[in-house]
Amino acid sequence: MSRPRILVVDDEPNIRRMLAGVLADEGYAVDAAADAEEAWTALAERPADLMLLDVKLPGEDGLGLLRRLREAEVALPVIMMSGHGTIRTALEATRLGALDFIEKPIVPERLLLSLANALRLRRLENENAGLREALAATGELIGASPAMDRLRGEIARSAPSEARVLITGENGTGKELVARALHAGSPRRERPFVKVNCAAIPSDLLESELFGHEKGAFTGALSRRRGKFERAQGGTLLLDEIGDMNGATQAKLLRVLEEGEMERLGGERSLRLDVRVLASTNRNLEALLSSGSFRRDLYHRLKVIPIHVPPLREHPEDVEPLAVHYLGRFCDANGRPLKRLDPGALARLRAWPWPGNVRELKNLMERVVIMVDGREVGAPAIAGLLGPAPAVGTAGGAPSDSAAANAAPGTGGAAAGEDDAAGGSLAGRLAACERRLVAEALDAAGGNVAEAARRLGLDRANLHRRLRRLGLRDRGVSR
Ligand SMILES: Nc1ncnc2c1ncn2[C@@H]1O[C@H](COP(=O)(O)OP(=O)(O)OP(=O)(O)O)[C@@H](O)[C@H]1O
Ligand SMILES: [Mg+2]
Repeated sequence: MSRPRILVVDDEPNIRRMLAGVLADEGYAVDAAADAEEAWTALAERPADLMLLDVKLPGEDGLGLLRRLREAEVALPVIMMSGHGTIRTALEATRLGALDFIEKPIVPERLLLSLANALRLRRLENENAGLREALAATGELIGASPAMDRLRGEIARSAPSEARVLITGENGTGKELVARALHAGSPRRERPFVKVNCAAIPSDLLESELFGHEKGAFTGALSRRRGKFERAQGGTLLLDEIGDMNGATQAKLLRVLEEGEMERLGGERSLRLDVRVLASTNRNLEALLSSGSFRRDLYHRLKVIPIHVPPLREHPEDVEPLAVHYLGRFCDANGRPLKRLDPGALARLRAWPWPGNVRELKNLMERVVIMVDGREVGAPAIAGLLGPAPAVGTAGGAPSDSAAANAAPGTGGAAAGEDDAAGGSLAGRLAACERRLVAEALDAAGGNVAEAARRLGLDRANLHRRLRRLGLRDRGVSR
């Protein structure tokens, strides 16, 4: 962390000045307040790492403020100061959680020693809590395979640090879950976790989303707006889908990461940032580097610690625990009695290539709960919901590298009918195949025709013609 910040609360200007001088000389950052109210406001505006609090204050006294902090569950270490330290006040202060009690006139050496001890204790507590939280957060990650164990270990080790982490993996593997675990296991866990999806926001708006803008910075900037970086102050910012960020924004981001400060768009004043940056992507950044669409310097800044989340088909041992977990959760959520997957159903699930990874499995279990009657779920029901094995390298979001190498299960009896009905002629089978690929691309694009066309490498008019010919017109939505 940066320099520890100390809040000095004393009504005598001389003492505030003296303490500020001594503390600044020792490298602490110092804020000062003259009474309890001022201290309370100062803390709300800028959190401190420790408070030096005079017992006797005009209005509410030091013990009153200490009590208020405890009631609000503010975990701020406090050292009390007093010119007339009676045993009773000292006892009361300790009971309220004050770490030490220093008598006036203040001897700087004694004060500095007490401060250093308090901050060290605080740091140790924080680190311990961090490790505990990191473990707890990774506890949300289901799976006991060696791959998941390795992932948990990587999270637990990197969470408590300030290092940037680049999280890679296919769609639905759990990258966001990993990012949240990293935040939860860091000393920043009480501060905000903020996520920006760099792919979902049109590139001309992304900069203002990240850095905010002043009123009138551009047409449409009707009022001042804080960006995600500012909202994440003191906490963690996840740059999701970083591989989709455009060049201009990459250049700006690089500068902000290098300098540790930023300006709002159209703003003059630069703001010091205290934000841990995590990034994630399902794209192959190395390939984007060589094609020039991702900056190498930015890549190295982001990838201080790389964490790769493996696709589900590479740890099929975890399919069963994940399926059982989500099946139970969705039964609960829908008020249904608990269902059971029979051995045949489990075998089907293990053999599926999971192009959509854990998210696909989770969604499937929700469908099972809603669509399948009875307590026992068998292979035919699963096969019916899964449909034919996905054609690899097309829609569905799985990068085309490894899915093909894994044996896809045979198509389930219930769902195969539609395609097979096209008959045995080559033309008929090609049409059936085309229909399925187009339907999958549409589904993957949420029905958006333009997006589906992009995925299929067709122009929009062409896809519209095909939709008409294939009788799929009502599946697409033009936007
Ligand atoms: N190991 C896991 N244990 C339990 N749930 C998981 C696990 N991995 C992923 N999930 C769940 O799967 C869903 C998808 O995970 P997440 O959103 O983190 O994936 P992602 O990699 O960010 O996907 P995308 O690239 O599509 O954004 C979430 O509901 C998440 O809780
Ligand atoms: Mg995600």
